[in-house]
Amino acid sequence: MSGKVVAVVGATGAVGREMIRTLERRNFPVKQIRFFASSRSAGQHLKFNGDDVVVEELTEKAFDNQGIEIALFSAGGDTSKQFSPIVAKAGAVVIDNSSAWRMNPEVPLVVPEVNPEDVKFHKGIIANPNCSTIQMVVALKPLHDYSRVLRIIVSTYQSVSGAGQRGIDELWDQTKNIINGKPIVSAKFPKQIAFNVIPQIDVFLENHFTKEEMKMVNETRKIMHDEHIATTATCVRVPVLRGHSESVYIETEKKISRDKALELFSKAPGIVLMDDPSTGKYPVPTESADQFDTYVGRVREDLNIENGLNFWCVSDNLLKGAASNAVQIAEIL
Ligand code: A2P
Repeated sequence: MSGKVVAVVGATGAVGREMIRTLERRNFPVKQIRFFASSRSAGQHLKFNGDDVVVEELTEKAFDNQGIEIALFSAGGDTSKQFSPIVAKAGAVVIDNSSAWRMNPEVPLVVPEVNPEDVKFHKGIIANPNCSTIQMVVALKPLHDYSRVLRIIVSTYQSVSGAGQRGIDELWDQTKNIINGKPIVSAKFPKQIAFNVIPQIDVFLENHFTKEEMKMVNETRKIMHDEHIATTATCVRVPVLRGHSESVYIETEKKISRDKALELFSKAPGIVLMDDPSTGKYPVPTESADQFDTYVGRVREDLNIENGLNFWCVSDNLLKGAASNAVQIAEIL
């Protein structure tokens, strides 16, 4: 039987489950599949292509002499820091969804529509970028190829699934409790998320930006091979289950008209253009849910800055923002 021996680490999590579904949906050539998680869920069964597969505990010896060729990791930064080098040493290529390795110069940070060639310099670990960064650079790539992007000001509207299964559960629980007049608990998010928005994702840093915001600044430069792209990000959690949205303002070296931008977006891989104000056509997260693409709309030339352009983009954070980007990297391998 041809195909690869593939492991999903963090298989029981929100992204891990989507990795499994994406392997199925994209008909990834799998000879054998293995699922790993913590001891908490070892022994559970998950389906792959209709078959029951048992979840195994991730241990330091779990990959020894197993012939595992590709390991899709989505089990958090600490787990990745501890286990990725061990798994790579055992012979698998790790494609890691956490932030643990992203800014390591020895580790490629890859979005297949933008910098697929970087996969080549891997030494056993390839990093999947931050979900908000992925959809933004997919949208920026055709513009940047036409006229260099110099400045980006982005505000994000990020769904609770970006915080994993516990984020999803917290939105449901708070919503039900508020409707039933019961007290709510905020554990995963710093404030109430139901019927609210929170301008804080991850911890604050010394410069008063959050870690999530600085990921967008630094990862964009690395993926687009341009140390000079000047990004300012404000990352906001919103009570949406699935799908991140972004309001993006850019300044480019030469002017990009609305018509030119529409033409560039419509031809770019991984982008679906939904932009027609006359019919109210623009993308929203419920329309991008369960899709692999990045949706772009609300394209406007800036009113004040000659080379300024505004647009809106939406993508499924669990898929293009995580699982399907990782599987696309595996497809390149
Ligand atoms: P488990 O279900 O056993 O806790 P999410 O991002 O949705 O919270 O999912 C995190 C994923 O990472 C889950 O599959 C979780 O497994 C897994 N995980 C967390 N800690 C570890 C660990 N120390 N070793 C292996 N898997 C882990």
